[in-house]
Amino acid sequence: SDVCASGFARGKRVFIRADLNVPQNDAGEITEDTRIRASIPAIQMALDAGAAVMVTSHLGRPTEGDFKPEDSLSPVARRLSDLLGTEVRLQANWVDGGFDIQPGEVVLLENCRLNVGEKKNKPELAAKLGKLCDIFVHDAFGTAHRAEGTTYGIAETAPIACAGPLLAAEMDAIGKALANPKRPLVAIVAGSKVSTKLTILQALAKNVDGLIVGGGIANTFMLAAGLKIGKSLAEPDLLGEATAVIAAMKARGAEVPIPEDVVCAKAFAADADATVKAATDVADDDLILDIGPKTAAKLAQKLKQAGTIVWNGPVGVFEFAAFENGTKVIAQAIAESSAFSIAGGGDTLAAIAKYGIEKDVGYISTGGGAFLEVLEGKTLPAFEVLARRAEP
Ligand code: 3PG
Repeated sequence: SDVCASGFARGKRVFIRADLNVPQNDAGEITEDTRIRASIPAIQMALDAGAAVMVTSHLGRPTEGDFKPEDSLSPVARRLSDLLGTEVRLQANWVDGGFDIQPGEVVLLENCRLNVGEKKNKPELAAKLGKLCDIFVHDAFGTAHRAEGTTYGIAETAPIACAGPLLAAEMDAIGKALANPKRPLVAIVAGSKVSTKLTILQALAKNVDGLIVGGGIANTFMLAAGLKIGKSLAEPDLLGEATAVIAAMKARGAEVPIPEDVVCAKAFAADADATVKAATDVADDDLILDIGPKTAAKLAQKLKQAGTIVWNGPVGVFEFAAFENGTKVIAQAIAESSAFSIAGGGDTLAAIAKYGIEKDVGYISTGGGAFLEVLEGKTLPAFEVLARRAEP
């Protein structure tokens, strides 16, 4: 981003890869535009520098070379025009260049996943992409875990490749939370399945001071702790792995708090009767759908004393009013804590919006899968290629 800010970009062709993959309803209207708003600083910076600005993103997972109207970025172009206060033209069939673009203009290049070779990062495509610009700016944190034509190939073939302000901000926030955190560092990893988050749990068990598990993940940990969970969602196959995570934490003097009370129902439904029970009293026909009030209060206390909090996943079925208390209490505790907090993942963002704590979270990541891969301790392809290009 310094490259764009330095005046060096005046009159240059700047190609920005953003993640504008936003949800739309059946009528093709954008229902949530956080990612579009998060892309504005990079675009504005390039515009202010006097560059000719090309922006692209994928939208969904279209079939390469097979355009369908629902794959079009045209609603995104309109929203970008509104937010920037300047007309953003949508350019189709752009990969061979030849379209007009002037300094001070923004052109949105149609869904990059329509280009043949994008997903697999084919060298022929990467070579063409590199010729379109003088400067490539990678600002798509949400897609930084994909090595595709516009997220990786072009970073190798463009004359200059650098990180945009959003990518840099995400890296800084995650680094602050995981690499050099103010302690105690407490992570909340919740969601339905241990299997989808096992590598995250294993990586965090080497770093965090407290690991709060919730949802179906907590049920498997309750089983590992010798508790009965009735008919609740769990993965008994992964008991060994859950036990190993608990042991790894214990060996470091850290802890995985197991719920002491839970909210149960006999059916998974919004109108099911909710009963608070001690964790030792769960019946054979019970479904655990939330943590209980005592557990929630204890966890809230830990969060208020934390130095750093990493949050991924609601701890209960917060979409149903009867089972939202645990997630609500956790959200409010994060909001009230003086800890630096970072949150990411679709369900987590929905919970943050529901409880109106956007302004109280230190950093809200625009990444879904990318955020999870960083928590796993992986080096994302975007960071690897940009670091390599930055070497003298
Ligand atoms: C996301 O929404 O997580 C990103 O835009 C990546 O999309 P993808 O999973 O289709 O690569």
